[in-house]
Amino acid sequence: MVNVVVGVTGSVAAYRAPDLCRELERRGHAVRVVATESALRFVGRDALGLAAEEVVTELTERAEHVRLAEWADAVLIAPATLNTLAKLAHGVADTPVTLTALASLGAGKRLIVAPAMAEPMYRSPPARRALRRLREMGVTVVPPRIEEGKAKLAGLEDLVRAVEGELAGVRVLVTGGPTLEPLDDVRVLTNPSSGRTAALICEQLRAAGAEVILVHGPLRVEAPADERVEVRTTEEMLEEVRRRIGDVDAIVMAAAPADFRPRERAEGKLDSRSRHTVELVPTPKIVEEVFPEFDGVKVAFKVDPDPVEGARRLLERVPCDLVVANPPEALGSESSEWWILDREGRVVRRVRGPKVRLARALRDLLIERLGGG
Ligand SMILES: Cc1cc2nc3c(=O)[nH]c(=O)nc-3n(C[C@H](O)[C@H](O)[C@H](O)COP(=O)(O)O)c2cc1C
Repeated sequence: MVNVVVGVTGSVAAYRAPDLCRELERRGHAVRVVATESALRFVGRDALGLAAEEVVTELTERAEHVRLAEWADAVLIAPATLNTLAKLAHGVADTPVTLTALASLGAGKRLIVAPAMAEPMYRSPPARRALRRLREMGVTVVPPRIEEGKAKLAGLEDLVRAVEGELAGVRVLVTGGPTLEPLDDVRVLTNPSSGRTAALICEQLRAAGAEVILVHGPLRVEAPADERVEVRTTEEMLEEVRRRIGDVDAIVMAAAPADFRPRERAEGKLDSRSRHTVELVPTPKIVEEVFPEFDGVKVAFKVDPDPVEGARRLLERVPCDLVVANPPEALGSESSEWWILDREGRVVRRVRGPKVRLARALRDLLIERLGGG
């Protein structure tokens, strides 16, 4: 199920928006509507309201656009006028539709636009430029049908498919965050992983329509998932992942499990005034245990001072479809640099910058491998 905000703007095709909303609801999605003032010249508020949970036509001090952007998995502007497309391409946020769409884009949600206008307007340089800019920003464009001198709003099927996402029907297990290995009853051995990478990956996969199961240690960020399984130790994470390998189409191992655990866990609380010697033993390597048994798409992460070489060494030992390699500084940080290698050890993507870019690249690579299923 997708939470979808349908944005309606002032095109003659706005009369088709209630049908679109009804079709989305019929297919099990939750629908809310935002409309511009111009849209209301072509379709009545009541008609929109009959087919949606909520209709927003003006913004108030309650900042509805922020709430809607948080709620949405996807925002579909259908029909999208040239006026609205041009504004979006330049960040002009002066209507409920442009505000909600831009806030959603900034929140990492999927933005889909379905242009509808007279053909000469569609062919005009500003329209072409706006669509090109929007595509560069990661916006999905559902192309119009060119008929009778018009660029008509795409058909319902195309619009619904765009909302449901290329990963509709795909189940992905994502691991995230650090694990905790107890030293005594109150102390643990862990690492600075925040779980942010996993959270962003979950968000991108869900926005593309995948069902996401997140097996995670303690997270310092909100992570959206359809099912969450919280674990403490690396051993527990291994068990929870193993239990689900028959139920998922892909596994993305974005967690940073603790590599060692104290050989013995002290009872109670170790005296903090005396010295202690702790013997560390390696914990199980989840990727090495699980991937040889798993038939779906396997994505591993490898942190190594020499990331690409480290990833290639991993590929020699373990079957993986993709390995995301990054340097140790990435743990707990906001941005970094990643190399994504395929199963043959070729670098297929190099991503630099905020972590959301990595999440988007992984989403696209999973769509290439699983899309349409
Ligand atoms: C009868 C009529 C039909 C229109 N149809 C379209 C259309 O199909 N596509 C379009 O881009 N603009 C169309 N427009 C122009 C938009 O309504 C106008 O640019 C408006 O400012 C759009 O505002 P909005 O993008 O905030 O909804 C039409 C205008 C009128 C008067």
